[in-house]
Amino acid sequence: MTKVPVTIVCAGGGGVGKTTSSAALAVALARTGARTLIVTVDPARRLAHAMGVEITEVVQPAHVEPAVEGKLFALMPEPRRSTPTFARVLFEGRPDDLARVMRNPVYATMADAAAGMHEIVSLILVAKAVEEGDYDYLVIDTAPSRNALDFVSYPGRLAVLFEGRAVTWLGSMARNVAEDDRGPGLFASVEKRVESMFARILNPRVLKDLAQLFADLALVKDRFARFARMSERMLLGERTRYVLVAAPTGSAQADVSFLARKLSKLNHRPAALVLNRSDQAEPGWLGTLGHAASGEEALDAAVAQVRLEYATRKRAGDKLAALFARELAGVPQVRMPTLESPDPVEIVRALATLMEPHLSVLARP
Ligand SMILES: Nc1ncnc2c1ncn2[C@@H]1O[C@H](COP(=O)(O)OP(=O)(O)O)[C@@H](O)[C@H]1O
Ligand SMILES: [Mg+2]
Repeated sequence: MTKVPVTIVCAGGGGVGKTTSSAALAVALARTGARTLIVTVDPARRLAHAMGVEITEVVQPAHVEPAVEGKLFALMPEPRRSTPTFARVLFEGRPDDLARVMRNPVYATMADAAAGMHEIVSLILVAKAVEEGDYDYLVIDTAPSRNALDFVSYPGRLAVLFEGRAVTWLGSMARNVAEDDRGPGLFASVEKRVESMFARILNPRVLKDLAQLFADLALVKDRFARFARMSERMLLGERTRYVLVAAPTGSAQADVSFLARKLSKLNHRPAALVLNRSDQAEPGWLGTLGHAASGEEALDAAVAQVRLEYATRKRAGDKLAALFARELAGVPQVRMPTLESPDPVEIVRALATLMEPHLSVLARP
């Protein structure tokens, strides 16, 4: 029996610090000694690089600080490789079938065009990793879009498709096509009325490739359905927490409201709201600097300017907090300040420290 980890799905608009907050939460959890996997559907290259993680389909140890060595792992699949990855994972251990699928022109076209393909592939990779990895926590950083939560229902929908009759039917059609390959009587019989309709719509060559593809997919449908069901359990199960991330910028607030409504349709409530870049007080060093500068006119002016900026940020943060206190009443808020560092990993580590006191809210099992 596979251990089902506590899953925390982070969602929010683009640029609010979702990837950074997810990584910080994962670091904070790993610091408690828990085996934690951070999954980034939309990898931030600079952050991945700084954590010593490659953008690839395999789980890798993340190197963030000595305290989390051996506890923190990352899975950051490359979005542009999702089509071959999908086939590789499903056809693991079946090299001949895999080669045939990869040669099938319909596969490439269909997979590239499929909405949410990368999310599906990422989820399958996660399901596989969870099966193999014995994790306590899974932190999923979703894609930066309002549709980010749609992926929650993909696995179930696909599992139904694969468990259903369509795959079997198309698979048997592939055999018919193969048997009738030469004759003009292809699809002519009354029993094959539906196939002939397809044949008229589609060119027979494409139809043959399509049918072959379904026949091939039918070979792995149990495997696919198992991964899909597992993803579904991971995303909608009792041990799943949704953390929404906002910042006092652009459409971030509207994005969170939208996502919260989507969640409620899935019968979930956000476990917490991270208000990133929502300073509550000016940093300590500013006061120290104020004292030191006192008397120096130019410095005093500079300190006053920075103070003003922090006061503005605090007001924006307060406003955001008040707004969500009304709109998402009862959802705990975790406010994170703006940090001054050019190093993305340093920001992650600092935010992790600030999140530690809030872990019971953010990641309660
Ligand atoms: N609290 C913060 N203070 C300072 N910089 C931050 C903070 N949160 C995020 N950043 C920086 O902002 C940029 C965007 O963050 P990122 O997490 O990639 O956003 P998203 O995933 O929402 O698009 C990154 O360079 C990151 O280091
Ligand atoms: Mg991101």
